[in-house]
Amino acid sequence: MKKIFVTRKLLKENEEKLKELFDVKLNLKDKIYSAQEIIEESKNCDGILSSVTDPINAETISKLSSSIKIIANGAVGFGNIDFKAARIKGIAVTNTPDVLTDATADIQILLLLGASRKAYEGRIAAEKQNWKWSWDFLLGKQMSNKRLGILGMGRIGRGVARRAKGFGMEIHYHNRSRLSPEEEDGAIYHHDIKSLFEQSEFLSINCPATPETTKIINKETLSYLKDNTVVGNAARGDVVDDEAMVEAIKSGKVFAYGLDVYNGEPKIHPEYLKLKNIFLLPHLGSATKRTRWDMAYRATKNLEDFFNNKKPQDLIN
Ligand code: DGY
Repeated sequence: MKKIFVTRKLLKENEEKLKELFDVKLNLKDKIYSAQEIIEESKNCDGILSSVTDPINAETISKLSSSIKIIANGAVGFGNIDFKAARIKGIAVTNTPDVLTDATADIQILLLLGASRKAYEGRIAAEKQNWKWSWDFLLGKQMSNKRLGILGMGRIGRGVARRAKGFGMEIHYHNRSRLSPEEEDGAIYHHDIKSLFEQSEFLSINCPATPETTKIINKETLSYLKDNTVVGNAARGDVVDDEAMVEAIKSGKVFAYGLDVYNGEPKIHPEYLKLKNIFLLPHLGSATKRTRWDMAYRATKNLEDFFNNKKPQDLIN
């Protein structure tokens, strides 16, 4: 039986399934392992089932035991793994797309709504139990009849588009390449970020974290936005230059910012904690039982196929 190191504690049913197929080394206390600990713990294993919290960079990969043949990341994002370094070492890397599209697109809508309708300030006022209804109390921005710009029209971006249409929004997007008419489904394509940002009244960040998208939301690109734009980020913290975002919020360029992901999470830029027009969640994009089960199941299937000499459906490298 192949031996798999599972870096984080999974749902019980997923661990049971893994035990049927593999000799598994579980993390029952759900400790977040450092890179060094991942190297130690995975010695003598044939594969790793990793999570978004595992820092598996090129240096870590170079020190992994030569017995490791696959890293099955239980996440759609794989910015935590240097998949190119893995390929050079002959280690396959897989992710879990599709299964978290709905949950993450839901959270993106929650971020846009929470930010635009002042959910954070509303909660504080409600807790005090002495708020006074008035004609101008905590007025937000309405999503209906607004232009939503989607940066990154992959599966999750398209999921956001479908939902946003239900709110009566007009969908615009920018992607590396234009989608087919079926995939576009009426959305308006912009060749560059500048054109998309100039048109957007709400902006949904859905691009993956890659070297090319690091800090793609920066002082220059934020300057293309209209004043009072609502921004939501359910993608990755790395794509936003936080200093520039704080400045854009303070200047009124950004009306409100909703975010679920952070640079260096679980740390949060201290200014975000001081601003009222920020709506924060602790990386809950895929956090439903159904989705977490599906993600672990899919990672397990990738491992199973790989060791049965079948090409895993989610092979990245
Ligand atoms: C992912 O799959 O990339 C999510 O961010 C994990 O919650």
